[in-house]
Amino acid sequence: MIDQINQLKTEIQSFRIENVDSLEAFRLQFLSRNGKVQSMFGLMAMVPKEEKALVGKAMNEVKNLAQNVFDTAKSKLASNETKVFGALDDISLPVEPTYTGSFHPLTQALDDIKQIFYRLGFNIADGPELEDDFHNFTALNFPPDHPARDMQDTFFIRKSDDADVNDLVLRTHTSPVQIRLMKEKKPPIRSIMPGRVFRNEAVTAKSYFQFNQVEGLYVDERVTMGELIETLVMFSKLMYGSDVNYRVRPSFFPFTEPSIEMDIWWDNDTGGQWLEILGAGMVDPNVFEAVKIDPEKYSGYAFGMGVDRIAMLRYGIDDIRLLYDNDIRFLKQFTS
Ligand code: DAH
Repeated sequence: MIDQINQLKTEIQSFRIENVDSLEAFRLQFLSRNGKVQSMFGLMAMVPKEEKALVGKAMNEVKNLAQNVFDTAKSKLASNETKVFGALDDISLPVEPTYTGSFHPLTQALDDIKQIFYRLGFNIADGPELEDDFHNFTALNFPPDHPARDMQDTFFIRKSDDADVNDLVLRTHTSPVQIRLMKEKKPPIRSIMPGRVFRNEAVTAKSYFQFNQVEGLYVDERVTMGELIETLVMFSKLMYGSDVNYRVRPSFFPFTEPSIEMDIWWDNDTGGQWLEILGAGMVDPNVFEAVKIDPEKYSGYAFGMGVDRIAMLRYGIDDIRLLYDNDIRFLKQFTS
């Protein structure tokens, strides 16, 4: 008898209820008045007295099981009424993609800049963010009273009235890495130097107290201004496409002579405008002297570009603060 009950139990458990029809079939087969559960109870009369308690208990368990299976399946079918498939019915269905993160627009722009200059034969160098006055200013031919040394632009970490003590500053540009490189290595030198720089400026949509630059330096015998401009034009075309609209203007920097700036035309809703993306020039002989490279024998060009500007231009971002807020709604747009 117990065997028969167990067999019925297995039958109930292996019955697949997939829709209203099979639910009804299950009810008829097991739970109706003529169903298998009820018939099973009819056999009770044949069970010897001393086994009745045990068998009765097993029968009741099977009856409850059948009722449970029925109830569960019924409510599941009701809640699934509008769905074509149940949760696990088709494991080959494509899943909803989840957001897996993305590179920051500054990282993407920097990666592209690095890749372009790598193609043009430059390697990568870096230097410290905490600099001394000599590397950040003096060796770059800034006169002692130059306004860029003023408290307004520079975060001074240690400032002393004693002329023998070198002031410590957060570097205001990546140009001091040029000085470190030229002190360390003999020409030919052909490197880019990416890094974070700091300026004591009011935070607005256009300026921030930190930003990113990529410095470039090429020193060898007979390096010319023509090569500099050709390299910058090539860079703009690789970065923005061969139809990019650019212009080169004369400018001034203490550490280059002559000096230029390059602008890129930015098309926008209000008709567009020129945006300056970099400064550049031929390394000033005074800079070569500060690092003990013979200016009679060597010449070189240098450039410094703003990565933030380049990223903003490329992605049409009009507020630099967005680059540093780390708002996920902003960053999500740069999934590649
Ligand atoms: N250091 C300059 C700045 O922060 C940018 C610059 C201009 C770098 C001309 C250069 C250069 O190497 O040749 O504004």
